[in-house]
Amino acid sequence: MASDSDYDISTDPLRFDLDAIHAYLTQSYWSPGIPRETVARAIENSLCFGAFHEGRQIGFARMITDRATFAYLADVYVLEAHRGKGVAKKLMNRILAHPDLQGLRRMMLATRDAHALYAQYGFTPLKAPDRMMEKHVPDVYRQAAPG
Ligand SMILES: CC(C)(COP(=O)(O)OP(=O)(O)OC[C@H]1O[C@@H](n2cnc3c(N)ncnc32)[C@H](O)[C@@H]1OP(=O)(O)O)[C@@H](O)C(=O)NCCC(=O)NCCS
Repeated sequence: MASDSDYDISTDPLRFDLDAIHAYLTQSYWSPGIPRETVARAIENSLCFGAFHEGRQIGFARMITDRATFAYLADVYVLEAHRGKGVAKKLMNRILAHPDLQGLRRMMLATRDAHALYAQYGFTPLKAPDRMMEKHVPDVYRQAAPG
């Protein structure tokens, strides 16, 4: 049975499997229908972390960041067969230790049900939600789809 040490985390874009990442994200609850080209552009313009098992990409996380003041954590997943083995925690440890993500004033993320994962790393509910705003278009990728 695979253990934590059978997984490695990398930020090397040459190792990322765009087809695998897109296959997951396009059927995820947060970005259904996202086009492959959009995923490629997002990866190119973010600080990304891949999780690998025997050379195959089985997990991913993406920090959207200026690498100076702010970062937004997005697109975190671990393939079902590899869940419950500490891979997401390994990803989180690598992300929070990354040299370009030190001393930021704020990190944010959105999650439907993984609050208890991120709470282990110091994330809390918004302290002042009345000060935050958003412009959210949840079905944007479906709107853009041809036909
Ligand atoms: C959430 C997810 C990334 C966790 O990956 P994982 O590798 O199985 O997680 P780990 O084994 O590293 O452990 C996660 C820890 O967070 C906890 N946790 C809290 N909420 C959780 C949730 N919704 N799903 C999984 N774990 C959760 C676990 O109980 C575990 O706690 P522990 O430290 O007491 O063991 C994975 O379940 C997944 O890909 N889910 C579908 C996509 C998703 O929801 N992504 C998050 C979007 S914000």
